[in-house]
Amino acid sequence: RGDRATVADLAGRHVVVSAGGTREPLDPVRFLGNRSSGKQGYALAAVAAARGARVTLLAANTELPDPAGVDVVRVSTAVELREAALKAAADADAVVMAAAVADFRPAQYATGKIKKVEGHEPAPVALVRNPDILAELSERRAAPGQLVVGFAAETDDVLANGRAKLARKGCDLLVVNEVGERKVFGGDTNEAVVLGADGSDTPVPYGPKEALAEVVWDLVAVRLA
Ligand code: CTP
Ligand code: CA
Repeated sequence: RGDRATVADLAGRHVVVSAGGTREPLDPVRFLGNRSSGKQGYALAAVAAARGARVTLLAANTELPDPAGVDVVRVSTAVELREAALKAAADADAVVMAAAVADFRPAQYATGKIKKVEGHEPAPVALVRNPDILAELSERRAAPGQLVVGFAAETDDVLANGRAKLARKGCDLLVVNEVGERKVFGGDTNEAVVLGADGSDTPVPYGPKEALAEVVWDLVAVRLA
């Protein structure tokens, strides 16, 4: 956490963080997934705990050690993550959706392993939309004054795309990762700008995921105060 002094500015707060990436099963052995490692969400959870918060970490298919002093709830699919998020958010002061949620899931789940059939091409995989958890959390605001934070990776017109997404989701803050040369999935570093529904933008220079986590909690703490 660098040379930053630890301040217990989140003491007495309950924060919820999602991390990792959902997996959407096709059959008992196969799924649609993504490459999110969960490191940014784990950094957010660890930093919030260090700043005094009670932390619920919703971990989707991660392989990272549990951060000290954090309640870890394991989920796999987007539907499971939605359930866990709505439950944990009921008394939360802030919810941060750092998980990569699959936009689609297979329309059908085959209870038996899908087999090749000689002389036949495979059937196409039909997909359906998953629920938009961030939009739902933003709409519901389970606790009064609750803050909702999203993450987005964008290319091209990063800021304009980020602004549009912030408005569409209805969240208070959106951390926009500038996808570029140094941004690698599974890496320990990040570079971002945090957009606020109040029109603010806070650039975060290229650095460790803990540094971005500190900035996110700074912005949350100010808004909760
Ligand atoms: N998110 C969510 N539920 C979904 C999809 C995304 O809660 N079904 C959340 C992510 O956790 C993230 C934010 O929404 O915090 C933005 O995710 P992103 O994939 O950038 O947004 P989408 O609306 O899916 O836009 P796109 O079509 O660009 O993927
Ligand atoms: Ca998406």
